[in-house]
Amino acid sequence: MKIGIGNDHVAVELKNIIKEHLEEQGYEVVDFGTNSTERFDYPISGYKVGKAVAAGEVDLGVLICGTGVGISLAANKVHGVRACVCSEPYSAKLSREHNNTNIIAFGARVVGPELAKMIVDEWLGAEFQGGRHARRVEMLAEIEEMQSLKAAE
Ligand code: RB5
Repeated sequence: MKIGIGNDHVAVELKNIIKEHLEEQGYEVVDFGTNSTERFDYPISGYKVGKAVAAGEVDLGVLICGTGVGISLAANKVHGVRACVCSEPYSAKLSREHNNTNIIAFGARVVGPELAKMIVDEWLGAEFQGGRHARRVEMLAEIEEMQSLKAAE
């Protein structure tokens, strides 16, 4: 499985820890983030990972900035992306099972490396349950469609 990873200047160290953690488990990781601690605007890597996930270039995405908020907002602007910020493993797991999230985000200023690993592991280990959740996830896509039509008017 291919995972796209992205970060800003605040999250370089945690990005590399998570990248290594994923590679150790056999995932192929494509890095769309920065490795510099010079200011780097989080919308750039959020958008890049979002686009790669939506286009199927990678299967899933992991995004890390200071809080995980800005970078997940950027990714969510891309149609087909369902990104969420999770600071603990329970929400991460349920976000996959119920919401079929395709990107997980967290904050380097919020979670430490061990908690971040647990969040990612729970998320990757979970599967979308479909059933009653599928209709709701389809409704999210409908909202995107409505926005598209409006923009085309
Ligand atoms: C950068 O200072 C910070 O705003 C960014 O890492 C992130 O937390 C934004 O949501």
